[in-house]
Amino acid sequence: MNLVERNSFLGKYGPVAVVTGASSGIGKAIALELGKTGFEVILVGRNESSLSKVSKEIETKFQSKTKILVADLGQLEGNQRVLDQTINLQVGLIVLSAGFGTSGCFTDSDLEEETELVQVNCLSPLRLSHEFSKRFSDQKRGGIIFLSSIVAFQGVPFASHYAATKAYVQSFAEGLNRELKSNKMDVLAASPGPVASGFASRAKMVMGKTLKPEDIALPILAALGKKTTVFPGFLTKFLTGALMILPRWGKVRVMELVMGGFTKHQRV
Ligand SMILES: NC(=O)c1ccc[n+]([C@@H]2O[C@H](COP(=O)([O-])OP(=O)(O)OC[C@H]3O[C@@H](n4cnc5c(N)ncnc54)[C@H](OP(=O)(O)O)[C@@H]3O)[C@@H](O)[C@H]2O)c1
Repeated sequence: MNLVERNSFLGKYGPVAVVTGASSGIGKAIALELGKTGFEVILVGRNESSLSKVSKEIETKFQSKTKILVADLGQLEGNQRVLDQTINLQVGLIVLSAGFGTSGCFTDSDLEEETELVQVNCLSPLRLSHEFSKRFSDQKRGGIIFLSSIVAFQGVPFASHYAATKAYVQSFAEGLNRELKSNKMDVLAASPGPVASGFASRAKMVMGKTLKPEDIALPILAALGKKTTVFPGFLTKFLTGALMILPRWGKVRVMELVMGGFTKHQRV
């Protein structure tokens, strides 16, 4: 985005943006781009010291305002805190990047962790987008960006449940994109391929080729209001293009090979 495009983006979705998962990875990279564009950025996550570092970086590099909001989005109270603390702010954009993954054999998985996965990846976006869609509907403008993934488009053996949470997000965002248009809201599903961030170690995956969060942040923002789904970065486009020609069962088999490779260390 050039300066004119950044100013127009700020005019359309500013002056305040809420970014969940802003302490690391994709959320952090998006928060930095929003700060550069002139947004006041509300940084949400659990890790206060990482959020402070992001806040300092935005304020010193771009002289934009930030606010840190420590909240566990796996808990009802954490989501409520985000809603309460933003009620009097002029929020025009929410980026729902908080999330994590799990991998390995489902039978060996920890059911509590899998339940937390649904809470953070699905229920938190549900709760936050539900309330913000009302606020945005009242102000007749607003943008919601959901973090989906290329794993959302077929079953993924050895990350079966994580992929299912992203299928939920992808389908939800696609529906809302059409449904909320009449109230002047823009909804986007951002569906990246593998990205080097804190994600892989928490999900116990060892990834091969990856994208950098800072390479996909701007393409994601630039797609809001223009597309329903964005596949940011060359690697994402290459992988989705290669999978596109296969029937759904074939995609599942390819994903089994890919994720089998990412998780094979768990079975030796
Ligand atoms: N990396 C990939 O390959 C990839 C690919 C496609 C899609 N995605 C999706 O992109 C999103 C961001 O992932 P990332 O790659 O940026 O991973 P990351 O570097 O691990 O960042 C995850 C962020 O989510 C936050 N988070 C996790 N659990 C939370 C909780 N209970 N409450 C509040 N915040 C929580 C973390 O903050 P705290 O630790 O401070 O709580 C962190 O800021 C996720 O939804 C992921 O599914 C990732």
